[in-house]
Amino acid sequence: MRNAAKYFLKHILRTICLSLGLSACTQVGESPKIEGDQTLGGRQISAQLLKRGQEIYLGACASCHGVKGDGRGPVGLHQNPPPRDLRQGIIKFASVPVGELPTDEDLARVVKNGLRGTAMLAWPVADADIKAVIQYIKLFSSRWQKEKAGKPIVVGKDVFAGKREQALKLGEELYHTKAQCSLCHPAFSATFKHDALRDKDKSGQARVDDTSGHATKFGKDVLRAGDKLEDIYRAVAAGVGGTAMPSWSNALSAQEIWAIAYYVQDLNLRENQRP
Ligand code: HEC
Ligand code: HEC
Repeated sequence: MRNAAKYFLKHILRTICLSLGLSACTQVGESPKIEGDQTLGGRQISAQLLKRGQEIYLGACASCHGVKGDGRGPVGLHQNPPPRDLRQGIIKFASVPVGELPTDEDLARVVKNGLRGTAMLAWPVADADIKAVIQYIKLFSSRWQKEKAGKPIVVGKDVFAGKREQALKLGEELYHTKAQCSLCHPAFSATFKHDALRDKDKSGQARVDDTSGHATKFGKDVLRAGDKLEDIYRAVAAGVGGTAMPSWSNALSAQEIWAIAYYVQDLNLRENQRP
């Protein structure tokens, strides 16, 4: 039985290998070895699940993320933003404060929904396979053997439901003054009503570069993690891993983050609607 399984796996790897081209073929041996059950992020994960994950990964992900998880697969080489280097154990869009390991739900969300405006599409991977592949990618970073996943920030009830104008007013104020989001995220703003505030913080002039380029220009760039209020809430509260975008969950109250989410969504929508 075991031999049959081994043969099956080998056969699959070879098929995938050939479809990727010969250079990728020589690298299959470089993927992490699965020697038995493992404790990853404080949870026991079976070797069987990891092996299933490896098959999915080599078939659906390695072309971009690389057999070694280094983000340097043949298809990914010229993408902007580049595929994530999974060896660092950092993802951008998680529900935990930046610096902590993402939860399984975070990893599953990204694989299921993709990141809009990037080559990370919503790959048609069955839910059961997503469960396997998100465990397998943890083998690329030794962080998963040492640390547990962070504690997710709860996206609670929208306190401004039915009070949109009130949210926008407070959100705008916070964005340009107390939180100074505009220092990094210029607001291109015919939508901006408080011209005095705008002049004061010189919106649109300051830029902060990070490894992947720049802070999102709301209204010009696509919101990668989604443009629903709760997506924006999560990105602001948790921050964006590996970039200059900090976690705001301690500096701002839940009410303030909701207000800001409305404002960011508004900047985004209106600009997109312009000719
Ligand atoms: C066609 C190329 C491509 C394929 C195939 C691909 N990805 Fe990605 N992936 C990317 C790119 C590009 C990014 C980075 C996007 C960014 O920086 O915003 C990314 C990002 C990610 C991230 C990090 C998300 C975050 O919030 O930072 C994870 C996790 C991930 N991919 C897993 C997978 C898995 C698992 C598969 C296979 C089911 C897969 N990817 C297939 C291109 C790809
Ligand atoms: C120090 C610079 C900096 C500050 C201050 C900052 N951001 Fe960011 N922000 C970034 C960077 C960099 C990114 C990540 C861009 C990327 O690589 O995807 C980002 C990403 C985001 C995203 C995710 C966009 C997406 O694609 O889904 C949101 C939403 C966001 N910021 C909102 C805010 C808000 C609201 C504030 C103020 C409370 C703020 N940011 C303050 C630098 C900053």
